[in-house]
Amino acid sequence: QILIIDFGSQYTQLIARRVRELNVYCEIHPYNNLPELSEDVVGVILSGSPHSVRDEDAPVIDLTPYRGKLPLLGVCYGAQYMAFHNGGEVLPSTIREYGRANLTKVDNACPLMKDIPLNSQVWMSHGDTIKSLPEGFEIVASTESVECAAYHVKGEDTFAIQFHPEVTHSLDGLTLLKNFIVGVCGCSQSWTPDSFVESTVAELKAKLGNDKVIMGLSGGVDSTVAAVLLHKAIGDRLHCIFVDNGLLRKNEFEDVLDSYKHMGLNIKGVNAKDLFYKELEGLTDPEKKRKAIGKVFIDVFDAESHKVEDAKWLGQGTIYPDVIESVSVKGPSATIKSHHNVGGLPDFMKLKVVEPLNTLFKDEVRRVGKSMGIDAKLLGRHPFPGPGLGIRILGDVTAEKVRILQEVDHIFIKGLRDKGLYDDVWQAGAMLLPVQSVGVMGDERTYESVVALRAVSSRDGMTADWVHLPYDFLAEVSNNIINQVKGVNRVVYDISSKPPATIEWE
Ligand code: XMP
Repeated sequence: QILIIDFGSQYTQLIARRVRELNVYCEIHPYNNLPELSEDVVGVILSGSPHSVRDEDAPVIDLTPYRGKLPLLGVCYGAQYMAFHNGGEVLPSTIREYGRANLTKVDNACPLMKDIPLNSQVWMSHGDTIKSLPEGFEIVASTESVECAAYHVKGEDTFAIQFHPEVTHSLDGLTLLKNFIVGVCGCSQSWTPDSFVESTVAELKAKLGNDKVIMGLSGGVDSTVAAVLLHKAIGDRLHCIFVDNGLLRKNEFEDVLDSYKHMGLNIKGVNAKDLFYKELEGLTDPEKKRKAIGKVFIDVFDAESHKVEDAKWLGQGTIYPDVIESVSVKGPSATIKSHHNVGGLPDFMKLKVVEPLNTLFKDEVRRVGKSMGIDAKLLGRHPFPGPGLGIRILGDVTAEKVRILQEVDHIFIKGLRDKGLYDDVWQAGAMLLPVQSVGVMGDERTYESVVALRAVSSRDGMTADWVHLPYDFLAEVSNNIINQVKGVNRVVYDISSKPPATIEWE
């Protein structure tokens, strides 16, 4: 595997994704919390950083365990760092070194630069620049304004580049990374979804032995793929629990339960709708609603998990971005804790945690799911928030409002599927607004609810844009909703992007 040492660049995850695209396993670790060097590591990449090497608080690291012993590739800050700390000169650049540039000099004899054509477009993004290199460091590529775009340390497998090979604007970036990873480090490119499944199942078998695992499923991609992997390893010793909180999409509980049973999972469906509705009664504040939903879920899940005797583990669908963004308090355990900081943790929270997907990116989870034969429809599902329709019904939540919104949502989502638009959208749904608007029906005036439809495109939910759905499609959906859903007489379409608007309305 390749070790990626992270100095905090926004691009570090992207480096990892590119390495994985080359079917080579890699891990990102922060420079200030590195694991002991494993024998499996055959090469090291130093990432970029928002810092300048000249900053007083710039990240520093002892490179002795790596340099000269393993192939090493410095990217941006990583390149400047090695130059600076070996006697080179790194200064603020006087000209703009952001954006596209072209290589005006390339030394194709250098293994890093093999097959990289002259004029190749590269992506620069740095405030500092290397002005002079230490003894024994030789330039292997230049652009018009950046003489030292790439260098090699003589007699070592140490290389560095000031541009970013991981972004797609560096057109030969993947070739360059391949030169390093395959050519220099000698990686075999054998890390595929199938090999991941094989090795993960073997590891899970060894780790779990005859232990029982409890896991909550939601119908989401991550928990489903994690459960199927665990099931492959320990069969019915994996006890899955799927709670109907009464805030799911129309028919979702039955449909998803059915597909889990088809997959052979040992799953128990628990209808707890009324408990959720009761706890939500009269609550209008979004955060209070979220907390109420979280609290009931924990109580129900705890009661169910006590029915599984001797369970030792809690299975979770945590994925890699959740792990590497660990600075933010994300994930179910963080929220769960806040509800139980008075009475102590519920028992299932004291179980050991097993997270078979915690080294994978989202698209890799899908590929692994596909390689295990999980239905493409399930793998391609839009994200759906844990509190479900509870936060799409603005204001207080009642069973009747849930029914109305389920019908509306169903018409919208089914319409997207029928028109082949579903996969062009990252997430879609409907909101029930807490306003009544006037309408006419026959000779009479009506005061009925307004619903808002939302469909966004996004990569990761952090930023999003509204999707320009065809007018004809919107017209048809609006007609169907108003004609078929009693209690709704007006449909609006949300045309706000995130930021500043969020995806959900609460
Ligand atoms: P926002 O509304 O913050 O949503 O733009 C970004 C993504 O997060 C989902 N979301 C939630 N997911 N619990 C969840 O599990 C929540 O309380 C929650 N709130 C928002 C939202 O659906 C979108 O995918």
